[in-house]
Amino acid sequence: MNSRRTFLKQVYGATLALGTASALPSWAMGSGQSDSIAIPGEDGLIVRSARFFDLETPVEYFDRWLTPVPHFFVRNHMHEPSELSAESWRLSIGGELDKPLAFTLSDLGKLQSHSVVNTLECAGNGRSLHRPQVPGIQWGKGAVSTAKFSGPRLRDVLQQAGVKTGGKHVMFRGLDEVPGKVPPFIRSIPIEKALDSETLIATQMNDEPLTKHHGFPARAMVPGWVGAASCKWLTEIKVLDSEFVGNFMSPGYRFPNQPVKPGDAVKPEDTHVVTGLNVKSVIAGPLDGATLKHGKLTVQGAAWAGEADIVKVEVSTDGGSSWNAAALGREQSHYAWRLWSFSWNAKRGDHVIQSRATDSQGRAQPAEAVWNPSGYLYNAIDEVKIHVA
Ligand code: MTE
Repeated sequence: MNSRRTFLKQVYGATLALGTASALPSWAMGSGQSDSIAIPGEDGLIVRSARFFDLETPVEYFDRWLTPVPHFFVRNHMHEPSELSAESWRLSIGGELDKPLAFTLSDLGKLQSHSVVNTLECAGNGRSLHRPQVPGIQWGKGAVSTAKFSGPRLRDVLQQAGVKTGGKHVMFRGLDEVPGKVPPFIRSIPIEKALDSETLIATQMNDEPLTKHHGFPARAMVPGWVGAASCKWLTEIKVLDSEFVGNFMSPGYRFPNQPVKPGDAVKPEDTHVVTGLNVKSVIAGPLDGATLKHGKLTVQGAAWAGEADIVKVEVSTDGGSSWNAAALGREQSHYAWRLWSFSWNAKRGDHVIQSRATDSQGRAQPAEAVWNPSGYLYNAIDEVKIHVA
């Protein structure tokens, strides 16, 4: 696990690389007494940006099905709301509806609650692994975690308000504090996904009220889709007759329809909004660069596939020449990752260990991820190099 010293090094590394060192708050600079960065409610996360809290889960936490909230990655585009009170918070539901509504937190609590175990992954997870590299938060492998989210179904609230026939998309607005000229965090999802029985207005995570970093008091939870669909600090839901137009729908969160080369100009009409996650597996152990004793060794990790199910995970211990089936973990739920493990008798020497997942749609992790200008949806076969002594 990261030592406190490593932690600070990572803050500087990530922040300086992005040229935002001046934005590092004074509390993040260390006092000479302690060189840790203290973010209340978070524990052991890798700080990719301290400006707005972009905190990555170290892969060694991918050894448990539900990620404890303090280890769950955080992705903020801007400042978290400074004033949030359970009493004064309101959620307005408007737009193409027969009867616009407003809910207090206690109103939401009176609606039937539903739970979904969802693997939430940021579209930019693995961005630092794309070649050539692309700008943006340089996520490693851990902008992904899994939790049990609970709250009323979005469908129940929309049906109470009566969606008009012209209502085709559902827009979410967050209460983020917008710095300077940055547009507010507003995105929309198609009405079909909004009316899906698993799409929630989540108020709880792992059976506790949401913490502020994860969207207290309520967030959208759009399972199987990129994390950006799941708007935090929800304050407004609006039914629209067409997709919302704004920065976080375009140019943000779009993927080219056809493969493009670095430097190619991509027209907005030749792109689409990123929605469902790719099939992917990540090795949680052994860690890259580890030196281990020869003999019985367990390779383990997690695999997920957005709206599809994982059907197999294979492990190679010889750099991809041969593949062996990993055992899939007992715990499963449609939108959640599947833990996996493979026992191996490791001989002395240097080894390249790889993992490859296949899903119920027949998708398998490719040797190389599809390069795209924003570095989204990285899902190449995972790999660690170890030395066995
Ligand atoms: N919602 C708001 N209001 N503001 C944000 O910056 N970030 C999105 C999404 N919801 C974001 C948001 C992105 S990009 C991701 S990946 C997920 O929240 C991350 O959720 P988490 O911080 O709970 O892990």
